[in-house]
Amino acid sequence: MLASEYKWQSCLLADMASDRWSSGLGFLLATVGAAVGLGNIWRFSAVLGSNGGGAYLVPYLLAAFCLAVPMLVLELAVGRTLRSDVVSAFRSVDTTYTAFGWLVVGGVSLILSYYLVLTGWVFGFLLSWLGGSRTTFATFTAGWLPVGYFVVATVLTGAIVARGVRSGIERLSTVVMPTVFALLVALAVYAVTLPGWGRAVGFLFTPDLTVLVDPGLWSAAFGQVFFSLSVGQGIMLTYGSYVDEDTDLLRSSLLITVADISAALLAGLVIFPIVFTFGLQPTLGTELAFTTLPTAFASMGAGRVVAVAFFGLLFFAALSSSVSLLEVGVAAATNTTRLDRGRATLVLTGGVFLAGVPSALSYSPLDLAVAGTPILDLVDESVGTYALPVSAILIAVVFVWAADLEQVRDALGRLYPLVRYAIPPVLVVVTGTKAAGIARPAWRLLLDGARDESLALAVTVVALAALSAMGWWLRSRLPYPRRQGRRRG
Ligand code: PHE
Repeated sequence: MLASEYKWQSCLLADMASDRWSSGLGFLLATVGAAVGLGNIWRFSAVLGSNGGGAYLVPYLLAAFCLAVPMLVLELAVGRTLRSDVVSAFRSVDTTYTAFGWLVVGGVSLILSYYLVLTGWVFGFLLSWLGGSRTTFATFTAGWLPVGYFVVATVLTGAIVARGVRSGIERLSTVVMPTVFALLVALAVYAVTLPGWGRAVGFLFTPDLTVLVDPGLWSAAFGQVFFSLSVGQGIMLTYGSYVDEDTDLLRSSLLITVADISAALLAGLVIFPIVFTFGLQPTLGTELAFTTLPTAFASMGAGRVVAVAFFGLLFFAALSSSVSLLEVGVAAATNTTRLDRGRATLVLTGGVFLAGVPSALSYSPLDLAVAGTPILDLVDESVGTYALPVSAILIAVVFVWAADLEQVRDALGRLYPLVRYAIPPVLVVVTGTKAAGIARPAWRLLLDGARDESLALAVTVVALAALSAMGWWLRSRLPYPRRQGRRRG
């Protein structure tokens, strides 16, 4: 596309965005809120521990600083340059790419549909331990409460996004992110006093360098980094469209990455001392949060306080990530349809809710499952595994190769060659190894439960085809918004 056409498109897009973060700190807290979530707290350190401890940190840190940071800068810079949501951004490069934008929105919304179910569980456990009833996973999922809490998590997420960028998303992050870090630090200080602390540090950081020759480990580490940082999903692009011109995006990206890794390591230094002190096995994912840790809390003196702090921080972390996932679709809908923020949020939240009902019902008395795999696990295994890298590839290829924007190149500086030549092939290889069954699960949130890889692959193909068809159909049917300044912060 010609430079002059770009300018025109950019002007048009610039008209769309009147929302801004109130300050650089507000922006950082919101992006860290998007990144730090369930993935950091119940996944990273467990994967680290079971994959060679300190050795796993080598591919992880390499992936974080060589791939995720440049990708973060790219997304934030594209958002800021075009001042648009993910769909309009793709559309501004070429109208045929609009379908890719909707594909990204579809993938992110499907992830949100089950992320909200998990957020609901965390909320349920928080209330139960707060009230002193110390529920267990089996008891909890034997009733309908998980479905009720899914509704609560969905309504809460919708209500925050409906309030807008400043009064909703930023205000939430300003309250919850400092709380999350304060609780993590407080719990880590408590964990140092436990007899299992030394063993936990050994478990987390003892290097086993032999694992470095395993290609599956590298691919897993790369996947974990992208998942944990919420990068490549249009979230950072959307949040970047609310950033001021003078914010240093490279510095911000480094800070976001360091905060995300710190949250994960701190969580490990809380969780594993507890696990070892109470003679339990280090487990992963939902098993860890809802079965292993509650067993320890139940036999601790101050168990109730520790449990409330743990589920509280987990809930806050999950909620701010849910909000970021919903904002991607809401920003796209407000910009590409005639809906205002309130209505767009209502429509999208409703859609995400409907998509999440089967996942919610798969851990209820109905036990909804396909070939023995609960629907929630299946969505995680399919969409969670493939939608994430596919979205990241689309963003990296379209905004670097198809649209080589000057401001984006400036923001990337010396990182530019990494984005252009390293990220797309690495992402393709990582996704390919997963599809070929070589790689370990990496992009997903869960790790336990029954797995059916070919079923997941089939579901993925169907979901991607359906979303692409929908995106293609929508590409020329939606108008640009009528006037500027409609969205409010
Ligand atoms: N990064 C979030 C977490 O660690 C989850 C997430 C993944 C959110 C992908 C958006 C996109 O839990």
